[in-house]
Amino acid sequence: MKRIAVLGSTGSIGRSTLDVIARHPQRLSLVGLSAHSRIELLQEQIARFQPEVVAVLDDAAAVRLRRQVGGTTQVLQGVEGLTRVATHPSVDLIVVGTAGPDALLPLVRAIEAGKDVALASKELLVMAGELIMRKVQEHGRRLLPVDSEHAALFQLLQGVPREQVERVILTGSGGSLWSLDAAQQDHVSPEQVLRHPKWQMGPKITVDSATLMNKGLEVIEAHWLFAAPLDRIRVVIHPQAVVHAMVELRDGSCLAQMSPCDMRLPIQAALSFPERWTADVPRLQWTQLAGLQFFDPDLDRFPCLRLALETARLGGTACGVLSAANETAVWAFLRETIAFGDIPRVIEETLAGHAPLAHPTLEEILAADQWARQAAQGVIRENKRFVQSVM
Ligand SMILES: NC(=O)c1ccc[n+]([C@@H]2O[C@H](COP(=O)([O-])OP(=O)(O)OC[C@H]3O[C@@H](n4cnc5c(N)ncnc54)[C@H](OP(=O)(O)O)[C@@H]3O)[C@@H](O)[C@H]2O)c1
Repeated sequence: MKRIAVLGSTGSIGRSTLDVIARHPQRLSLVGLSAHSRIELLQEQIARFQPEVVAVLDDAAAVRLRRQVGGTTQVLQGVEGLTRVATHPSVDLIVVGTAGPDALLPLVRAIEAGKDVALASKELLVMAGELIMRKVQEHGRRLLPVDSEHAALFQLLQGVPREQVERVILTGSGGSLWSLDAAQQDHVSPEQVLRHPKWQMGPKITVDSATLMNKGLEVIEAHWLFAAPLDRIRVVIHPQAVVHAMVELRDGSCLAQMSPCDMRLPIQAALSFPERWTADVPRLQWTQLAGLQFFDPDLDRFPCLRLALETARLGGTACGVLSAANETAVWAFLRETIAFGDIPRVIEETLAGHAPLAHPTLEEILAADQWARQAAQGVIRENKRFVQSVM
């Protein structure tokens, strides 16, 4: 029996994870949960799974939940509470599906406490990949990717000697705006952007899919997870989203991982590793797979991907600054404070004010994150051009 804590249980990844856990009661048990502030849903999850412990990031919401929860579930709060859930003695493996940077410290402490990790929150690897991978090695833990492309690569690379690998390829559907040119993209509404053609996901990652920042973050994620040199990671747009990743071998053979767009598959692959269990999810319909297409991404039309690829080469705190500035800009777009086309401009201006630090400590990483969020807010506030563009 693997005992699991799910950080971000009320989100898209979190809900899919609970579904997988509920389908395997003989193999998986749920010990801990966490949310930011959606305590009604969290309360339903507590009633259903009876976890030992939950954490709520928002202090006021934690106090409200504590009044409502009876039984034996302990309600903790803030980053300290999240850390206690992640390091709880009854937990074997944590699933990280939180938004934002707050789970970084709990993640690091969990690895130090000997927990294995199934990681969806790519932003944490982007901001602290070097440190996280070092902790994983030092403590002999497993870091299992949940992001579908990385879960695909992880499966493809099992048993393949590294020296045989020429290149890894991450596919992306292109998101909701793939068919629009740059001028048309400039003034799309949040509602339009949130209509993803293939995946049902949280709002931030859905916007990242449309800007292709998601692929940029995934290149950095793959770099850390697989110790892959950046020039051996390629991004390919594949609108049908059937192939999730490919590995080109040195003899010219290419291995591909294909599956339906259902996050329960990579989540289950991580939770069941090194076994593989049956999954009651829709199967690929082979006769409907005609016409798979693959395109190079256009970096002029999708400047966020260009920025991410450039920043990946700088490394150090620059990647965290890219991610934090992007998150700030994405939420500003979702609140209709800036236009879609302003997102890369906010990121670029924020990055221009940052002097990257190589091999940062945890404290330096968190400080750079804070700085970037404030700097990006400043760019948004002070530059009238941005605000005018949505009027
Ligand atoms: N969704 C996908 O299919 C998918 C695929 C691959 C990778 N990912 C990655 O997985 C992560 C989660 O994505 P999602 O789509 O599941 O997001 P989501 O639906 O927005 O869920 C985010 C979860 O994190 C919680 N949360 C929000 N702010 C937090 C904070 N400051 N500290 C701790 N927890 C916080 C939320 O709680 P409340 O509900 O209380 O706000 C919710 O439980 C992201 O890093 C994303 O890139 C997602």
